[in-house]
Formats: sequence, C-alpha cells, structure tokens
Amino acid sequence: MNPFSALDWQKKIYLSGFSGKLPLVKIDPVHLEEAAKAAMSPQAYAYIAGGAGVESTMRSNRNAFETCKIIPRMLRNVGERDISINLFGKKLSSPFLLSPIGVLEMVHPEADLAVGRAAAQLGVPYIFSNQASRPMEEVAKAMGSSPRWFQLYWSKSNELVKSFVQRAEKCGCDAIVVTLDTTMLGWRTRDLELAYLPFLEGKGIAQYTSDPVFQQMMDEADAQENTKREITWQTLRGLVSMVNRYPGKGFFKKLKSGRPIKAVQKFISTYSNPCTTWDDLKFLREQTKLPVLLKGILHPDDARKAVDYGMDGIVVSNHGGRQVDGSVSTFEMLPEIVNAVNGRIPVIIDSGIRGGADAYKCLAMGAKAVCIGRPYVYGLALAGELGVYEVLRNFMADFELTMGLAGCKNVSEITRETLR
Ligand code: GLV
Repeated sequence: MNPFSALDWQKKIYLSGFSGKLPLVKIDPVHLEEAAKAAMSPQAYAYIAGGAGVESTMRSNRNAFETCKIIPRMLRNVGERDISINLFGKKLSSPFLLSPIGVLEMVHPEADLAVGRAAAQLGVPYIFSNQASRPMEEVAKAMGSSPRWFQLYWSKSNELVKSFVQRAEKCGCDAIVVTLDTTMLGWRTRDLELAYLPFLEGKGIAQYTSDPVFQQMMDEADAQENTKREITWQTLRGLVSMVNRYPGKGFFKKLKSGRPIKAVQKFISTYSNPCTTWDDLKFLREQTKLPVLLKGILHPDDARKAVDYGMDGIVVSNHGGRQVDGSVSTFEMLPEIVNAVNGRIPVIIDSGIRGGADAYKCLAMGAKAVCIGRPYVYGLALAGELGVYEVLRNFMADFELTMGLAGCKNVSEITRETLR
C-alpha cells in the first residue's frame, strides 16, 4: 500500500488553500522553474537549467513525451492504488529516483544534505553525485537507512575510482551508476556566456577533497599548474571560495598550505577520462559486488553490450540535454532499448521527465523506474528540504492519480497497450 496517498496530499493542498496558504513550490513545472530562477543567482540558474548548444535535445526530450498518448480505461476498480516497485531486490515506495546533480551549494547552503533528508522521508532513492557539494558519508548519515546509490565519473586514476566505489559501499549505497556521456563537458552555451565554471571556485568537489586517495594525488607533480592568471577582484573572490570550501579549519592556515588550489587543479586535470572503453568496465566489475548501471545509453547496440559486459542495469539518458545538442530524446529510444535488453536487466530512464504522465509513459514502454532531475533542484532553490519534499510528493501524487485514472491499480498493469 502506498503510504503517501495522492488523495491525502491533494486534499491537504486544497484545505491549506482554503485557509489562505499556497504550496511552497509551484505545481506546474514551467512555473516551478520560473519561480526558482528568481531565487537563484544567474550563474546557478545557468548551470542547472542550461543544456548543450541551442538546447534542441532538451526540447526533443519534452516533445517525445508530447507525441505519445495514454488511453485511459474505465470501470476497473482503482479504489486501492499501489505505486511501489521492486528494484535490485528492494521494494521502493514509488518508481522515482533522484538523478545525480552536482554543485548544489550554488542553489542552497544545505545542498545535498537537504535533498537526502527529503528523499529519505519518502523512501525515494537518491543517486549521490560524483560532483556533490557534501561528501557522500555525510549525506548517507543524514538519510538513515533510506536507499541511496552512487554516481561515478571515471577519472584518470583507477585508484580514485576504486576509492570512490569502496566509500560508496561503506556508506550503504545500493548501486553504482557510471555516467558515460560526460567524458568531457558539453558545449554549455549559458555557462560559456557567463564564463562561469563552479569547480574553479572549489565548488562541487567535496567527494574529492574528502578522499584519501585524492589527497595523495594532490601531491603529484602535475597538480602544479603554471598558467599565469590575471589577478582581479573576481580572482580573489574565487580564491576565498576555494579556501572556505576546502575541509578543515583556519582560513589562513589552509591558504598557506596551498592545498585548496592544488585540489582544484588536480580535479580539473583528472576528473574524467575520455579514453575509457568497454573493456575498462571489467575493472569496475572487479571492484564491487554492488549492481553496476551504465548511464547515458541511447543506442540499442550499446544496451546489448551493457548486458554482454555483465552490467546490472542501464539508465537511458542524454544528461538532460547537457552534453550532445541535437541528440535523440531518451523517450523515443526507450522502446528499442527495452526490446534489445529483453528483460535481462532493468532499464531506467531520465531526461525531460516533468510529471506523472511522463513517468507513466516510460513505465508503459518498459522502463522499471524513472529519474527526476532539475525539478527537485528548483524545489531546493525555493524552500530547501521542504521544497524538495513537496516537489517529490507532487510527482508521486500526479503519477498515482494518472495511473488510477488510466485504469491501473499498480505499476504491473501499466503496459504498452495503454498507450497510443
Ligand atoms: C555534470 O555532471 C554536469 O552535467 O554539469
């Protein structure tokens, strides 16, 4: 039974309105983004909302959902509705997971901690970002026994990869999701126009600075960058941010040690490895017994290969349109990928999911679960933990009502035949 009843939530919203109180976050996804934009710095908004190039992939992601329709069926006794799913041997409260999103400190000071707490209240798995603002151990602690996964970027150092995976296992992550589509940062128009990359200010590198292997790597010679930089007020501000964000106490002590700068330099030179190939997956497979999922799969042949290489799942994703402009949308590729995988491993999808109907369509096309991305960050921007909670609750309620009104009591009744 779903303990987070859609009707209770809907009633709560209307009754609060009756006493003059509006929801903390907007319900419509476009209004949600507009409201969050007003609450964020231009740089934070650009980083979160932006995509690659002219952002046609972002539009395609949405358009693909528009072209597919649900055919509701009547008189099917949907009085009891259950939106739970089973994934990797665990029962989850809903088909939603939270996509990993980095550098949340740009949006709210509690960053990943606020998201983790909100997700934990609803039993929604949170995929910790490799580029998080808080170390995974801290967020895991704040989540108690609630499910979490870890997203990995394959860095130039396999020792660091190993260390991240071991830490994820130790702090109770249930799966490792390797993001394959960001071996280099895409051509992010909005960030480039503002000439702003948060990592240069030491933001979004908490998984690194808290890592013992990375700490050793910082002493390696190539961490010293010799490029001459112009010193401006802006540079000094960036430097202060870098030092403040570096773990430990004592601003001047940290500054004198040079380590905050070394951390950023080392991160930039090692964070990803465009030379990675399919055969490298063997290394990862050997490091952990946890399920390993490949994120960024868009071609059915790559999906088949994931199975051949012993992977445990895939996430059909185009990184929310942030990497390849003019890419296929995830939803249009989903049926072919589901057919290619043929039930051997679970297929999860993200990129462009903005409501319950999108999730319904993905499940009907054979996805086991769907990941929510930008909308939860907008909730975070507007009202911290409570904002994230409301956004997630809205997704769950919208999905439950869509499912019931389409004539399905539970997710196993959501099939391709219910779509046109
Ligand atoms: C990193 O994952 C990004 O999309 O900016």
